[in-house]
Amino acid sequence: MARLIINADLGKHKIDKNIYGHFAEHLGRCIYEGIWVGEDSPIPNTRGIRNDVIEALKKIKPPVLRWPGGCFADEYHWKDGVGPKESRPRMINTHWGGVVENNHFGTHEFFDLCELIGAEPYICGNVGSGTIYEMQQWVEYINFDGESPMTEWRRKNGREKPWGLKYFGVGNENWGCGGSMRAEHYADVYRNYQTYVRNYGGNKIFKIACGPRGDDYHWTEVMMREARYVMDGLALHYYTRLVDPAKVRNANRGSATEFGENEWFTIMEKALFTDELVRRHSTIMDVYDPEKRVALIVDEWGTWYEVEPGTNPGFLYQQNTLRDALVAGISLNIFNNHCDRVRMANIAQTVNVLQAMILTEGEKMIVTPTYHVFDMYKVHQDATLLPFDLQCDDYVFEDKAVPQISLSASKDADEVIHISLCNLDPHNGANIDCELRGFKASAISGEILTSSEMNTHNTFDNPEAIKPTEFKGATITEKGFSADIPPMSVVVLNIK
Ligand code: AHR
Repeated sequence: MARLIINADLGKHKIDKNIYGHFAEHLGRCIYEGIWVGEDSPIPNTRGIRNDVIEALKKIKPPVLRWPGGCFADEYHWKDGVGPKESRPRMINTHWGGVVENNHFGTHEFFDLCELIGAEPYICGNVGSGTIYEMQQWVEYINFDGESPMTEWRRKNGREKPWGLKYFGVGNENWGCGGSMRAEHYADVYRNYQTYVRNYGGNKIFKIACGPRGDDYHWTEVMMREARYVMDGLALHYYTRLVDPAKVRNANRGSATEFGENEWFTIMEKALFTDELVRRHSTIMDVYDPEKRVALIVDEWGTWYEVEPGTNPGFLYQQNTLRDALVAGISLNIFNNHCDRVRMANIAQTVNVLQAMILTEGEKMIVTPTYHVFDMYKVHQDATLLPFDLQCDDYVFEDKAVPQISLSASKDADEVIHISLCNLDPHNGANIDCELRGFKASAISGEILTSSEMNTHNTFDNPEAIKPTEFKGATITEKGFSADIPPMSVVVLNIK
């Protein structure tokens, strides 16, 4: 029996909807085919963007979308991606698979996509191989309303009014693919570049600095010490993987679909490690910024396995199972529970890459178990986080153990309580007795995502092998509710 106390009247912090953000890079079949098919494609599209993907994304309410990379961002020269498509240069995407990038999806197309799916655009600029001037002009092209060569060019290219971009990243992984810099060097480079990311009119840009790779606490320390006054967010990257390739060279990343309990357990452990990362980076940030003005932004996270057999290793195309759904649920619970500091997160990536929401094959499209978790959890967006205490059993595997249950709870503007619960144990259910303090429950409903196998996934032949169903395992009690959470499941409860 697990004991849970939720303090329904003590919520202080808002769960920023941007925690439910996404990331789409010019990588493999994410942008090209996954999102952009071109106006002349037989695949139904709106100005070149696939309609099925637009509809699927709209349903999960994507608050923000990061683009164009990733490692691609520090090789991207934005001027190649505006103007008549036939005269846009073709280049090699050297970082990802060595394929031709025809630049047909550029700035205008990105803003169009964001508008179609209702997401706030978040652009990552090129520091590694781009100039300050180039970055300055990009922001001017996007946001300036007056007279200038950049605004003239934008108008000539079909956009009269500025877009009012809010989120801008000054480089990506500048400790690695974005320039192999030391923290001390990047801190100065960041200060320099960000100076020219101008605010135009009333539009204030939220500036995001490259943050640490996983547990590189030194990076956070240096950036907060040297550059906190000129940043609004610091971007942590953490991927859930069986082994860290930086620590074990040429490590096999394991299959996305063929695995046993050993790999299941390890991935759960690695997902839970996100909590330690967020806590320790936040502790360093607290020293320099006790008011928590600077946000910790986890703008790349998700699972990373070997690519699907027979696919281009540079395309990072992987399947997505119930195990990934648990990783999504655990990670989002962690971000919610640290929403006083974590104010944006962007899962990698939206379509056909890493822990994708959506997979496509020609004109066919399916959604993944991770997509369903985003759909179920969307009730937390902009709701008030509720503090809780949980005592639960451990999920024990061989000589290791992790808590069986991960959860977060919130109250929305209509006073409805939402509780997202993950049972990590593939064998044992969890009976939860919950006391809801400061709230009289009268009705409870919910949804569950689960399966009898750890590796259940949707395919183009069986697109609904795993999808949410109504959850009937919860009842109202005198003090709150009780619920039976089945093994390896993600449950979201709604209480009125
Ligand atoms: O998401 C794939 C890659 O992972 C990104 O391009 C890079 O930023 C990270 O290393």
